[in-house]
Amino acid sequence: MDSGKVVITGSSSGIGKAIVKKFLDDGYNVEGIDLAKDGPFLHRNYKHHQLDVTEFYQLESLLTNIKYSSENNVLVNCAGTREICPIDELTLSLWEKVFSVNVTASFLSGKSFCQNIIKRKLNGSVINIASVSGVMGEPNRTAYVSSKHAVLGLTKQLALEYGSYNVRVNAIAPGIIRTPLTESYYHDECQLEKIYRGQFLSSLGMLEDVAHAAFFLASKDAGFITGATLVIDGSWTIGKDL
Ligand SMILES: NC(=O)c1ccc[n+]([C@@H]2O[C@H](COP(=O)([O-])OP(=O)(O)OC[C@H]3O[C@@H](n4cnc5c(N)ncnc54)[C@H](O)[C@@H]3O)[C@@H](O)[C@H]2O)c1
Repeated sequence: MDSGKVVITGSSSGIGKAIVKKFLDDGYNVEGIDLAKDGPFLHRNYKHHQLDVTEFYQLESLLTNIKYSSENNVLVNCAGTREICPIDELTLSLWEKVFSVNVTASFLSGKSFCQNIIKRKLNGSVINIASVSGVMGEPNRTAYVSSKHAVLGLTKQLALEYGSYNVRVNAIAPGIIRTPLTESYYHDECQLEKIYRGQFLSSLGMLEDVAHAAFFLASKDAGFITGATLVIDGSWTIGKDL
């Protein structure tokens, strides 16, 4: 079965790994890009590229040289980084690092993917993994919050620029999902209490919640959805308990 090709950054861990699994299970060939030497799984349909996405020229060249599918093609920009520090301690170099990974790499890979799909007259769509930090502020995460807001702007702009070629571009804004990035929250009672108080659903966000949404956005069923942000946060952003 050849359902199509997925290229995904940040494939070795957390949300990226769960997305890789979902698409492999559904018969896609997946090429993952990550800082980590190893991919998430040993699987005949998974190919791993060890690369820092801020190696911009290598990233663009990798996207140009991918063997795309005649069925469906998907780029998932999932690699992300964040700082946790008071704004007064946020240096220019840390700000730039967060923006390089979260925004600039997504811009370059998104543009390159769209150009290559259009040139080859193939079907394709892009999914940018943003965050609830792309729609609201959060203490001590000034660069992360600003960068995720930028990812949502980039999503709309790529959707607008490439829409007439039938390439769709959407974003997912997850709330708190248990991954190595957030693992420390789950060992801190005070933090867990804040999470439960910050949302109205009593369940916690699972990796599969995001992976299944990415699969939907990449499918024909989402054929009229572009430039959109799918918030998956158990109600974190809709209001607060007073
Ligand atoms: N976990 C959450 O609660 C949550 C919530 C909202 C948004 N997100 C977003 O989801 C995405 C994935 O987060 P996660 O929680 O799965 O994190 P994670 O730390 O488990 O995985 C991130 C992966 O990205 C890779 N990566 C980081 N910088 C890279 C770089 N420069 N080049 C290549 N690969 C790089 C890491 O090696 C790692 O494998 C991020 O964009 C994050 O901002 C996560």
